[in-house]
Amino acid sequence: MEFSTQTTASLHQIKTAALAVGVFTDGVLGTAADIIDRASNGALRAVVKTEFKAKPNTHLVLRNLPGVTAARVILIGLGKQDSYNAAAHAGAELAFANYCAGADLAEGVSTLAAIDCPGTKIRARARAAAVAAGRATYRYNATLSEKRDPAPKLKKITLSVTRAQATEAQHGLREGRAIANGMNLTRLLGDLPPNVCTPAYLGNTAKKMAKEFKSLKAEVLQQKQIEALKMGSFLSVARGSYEPPAFIILKHTAGAKTAAKDRKAPIVLVGKGITFDAGGISLKPAANMDEMKYDMCGAASVLGTLRSVAELELDRDVIGIIPACENLPSGRANKPGDIVTSMSGQTIEILNTDAEGRLVLCDALTYAARFKPAAVIDIATLTGACVVALGHINTGLFSPSDELAEGLLQAGRDANDTAWRMPMDDAYQEQLRSNFADVANIGGPPAGAVTAACFLSRFAKDYPWAHLDIAGTAWRSGKDKGASGRPVPLLVQYLLGQVS
Ligand code: BES
Ligand code: MN
Ligand code: ZN
Repeated sequence: MEFSTQTTASLHQIKTAALAVGVFTDGVLGTAADIIDRASNGALRAVVKTEFKAKPNTHLVLRNLPGVTAARVILIGLGKQDSYNAAAHAGAELAFANYCAGADLAEGVSTLAAIDCPGTKIRARARAAAVAAGRATYRYNATLSEKRDPAPKLKKITLSVTRAQATEAQHGLREGRAIANGMNLTRLLGDLPPNVCTPAYLGNTAKKMAKEFKSLKAEVLQQKQIEALKMGSFLSVARGSYEPPAFIILKHTAGAKTAAKDRKAPIVLVGKGITFDAGGISLKPAANMDEMKYDMCGAASVLGTLRSVAELELDRDVIGIIPACENLPSGRANKPGDIVTSMSGQTIEILNTDAEGRLVLCDALTYAARFKPAAVIDIATLTGACVVALGHINTGLFSPSDELAEGLLQAGRDANDTAWRMPMDDAYQEQLRSNFADVANIGGPPAGAVTAACFLSRFAKDYPWAHLDIAGTAWRSGKDKGASGRPVPLLVQYLLGQVS
C-alpha cells in the first residue's frame, strides 16, 4: 500500500476513484464536503437533507457528481459535531478504508481521504488514516486451504492537505503505516493456532525480524540457558508441557544520530508469551478454552511494537523480552501447594496453577533489571478479573509511578487505544500472604486484577514500571473472533514521545 499527500485547493478537480468527505448529523457539512457541495451545485446538501443521516459508521456513495472530477464521492457519517473527537474520527477513517477495501475499486487508481476533523492536528489525522487502511486490509488466511477472503488490495491512500500541512501529514502517514504493520503482525501471531504458534515459533519470528531490520538483534534462550539463569518460577510453568520454553530478547538500537554516550537508557517491554493456557492442574472449563491461544498476545504486542519501532528507525533504544511456554496439565506440571524459587530469590507458593502469567513474568521482570532501563512496561492477558472490571474498551493500567502512568494514558488517548488506571495501594499486598513462602501466587477473588499487579510489583522494584492487563482488549470473541492488535498503537505512540 502506498501513502501520499496531495496539496490542492480545488478538491473537486482531483482525479481519483473515491473521494471521502465528512458530514455531521443535522446536515452540517465538513469543509471538504462544503467544497464538493458548491462545485456540484448543492448536490450534497440535497442528499443530506433527504437520505443521509450521517450517523457514525455509515457512508453513502455518490457517483458522477456534476462539476466533480472524482469518480465517486463517499459521504462519511461523522455523528454530532459537538461530540466529534479523535475516537469518532478514527471510526470515520475506518468506515472509509473498509469501503475502499471492500469495493474492489479498479486497480491502480488512487483513493483520497479528506475527512476533516476540527481540533485534531494534521499529523494525528494522517496517522489515523494510515492505521485505518492497515486495519481494513488485514485478513487471516494462514490456515485456510482455499483463500476464503483474500486480503483486499488497497493500492493507494492520498491525503488532501494544504501546503503548510504537507510535512506533518507525511510524518503522520509514515507513523501510521508502521503502527498498522506492527498491529497486523500482532494480530496474525494471536490468530495463529497454538499448535503452530509455539514458543519456538515466537522465537523464530523474532529472529526473522532481526534479519529483516538492521536495527534489531534477536537472542532466543533455550531450556539449559534459562536454567543457568535460575528462572525457577518461569520454568515451573513450562515443565508441564512437551513443547520446550523459549526466553526471547529482541533489541532495537537507535541509529548513529545520537552518540552512544548521549543515549538515554533503554525502555524495556515485557510480553506474556503463554502460547496456550489450559490452566494446568487447576484446569480451565472446556467452554471457549480455544481462546486461550490468545494468551500470548502480550508477547505478540511486544514483537509488533518492535516491528513498528524498527520500521520507524526510532531514535531510542527499546528492548523486548518474552518468556514463552505453554501451561498444560501433566504428571510433571505444577501442583497447587508447590513452592518454587524465582530468579529474584523470592519463594512463591503456587495455590492455583492457572495464575501462571505472573509466574513467567516475574522472572522476566528480574532479568530486565540488567539493562538499567529508564522504564519497564509489561503487557499481559493476565486476569479474567480485568475483563470484569473494564470490559473490552479499556486496557487495565497499573503503575506506582504517576509520571509513567500519565504518559501511557495520554499515549492511549492520542492513539485511540485507551487504558484506564487501576489502584495499587500497598494494602492489597496482604492478600498475597503465604504461611509457607515469601508470597502466594493468588490473592483470592476480590480485586483479582489488582492483586495480580501487586504480585508483579514485588519483582519490579529497581526501575519505573507499569503493567498493562490486556485480557479484555487483545482479541474479540464470538462471530468476529480475532486479535485486535492492541495495545500496539498505545505503545508506539508512547515510544514516539520518548526519543532521545
Ligand atoms: N490467561 C488467563 C487470564 C484470562 C482469562 C485472560 C480469561 C482472558 C480471558 C490467566 O492466566 C488466568 O487464568 N488467570 C486466572 C487467575 C486466577 C486463577 C487468580 C483468572 O483470571 O481466572
Ligand atoms: Mn491461566
Ligand atoms: Zn494465562
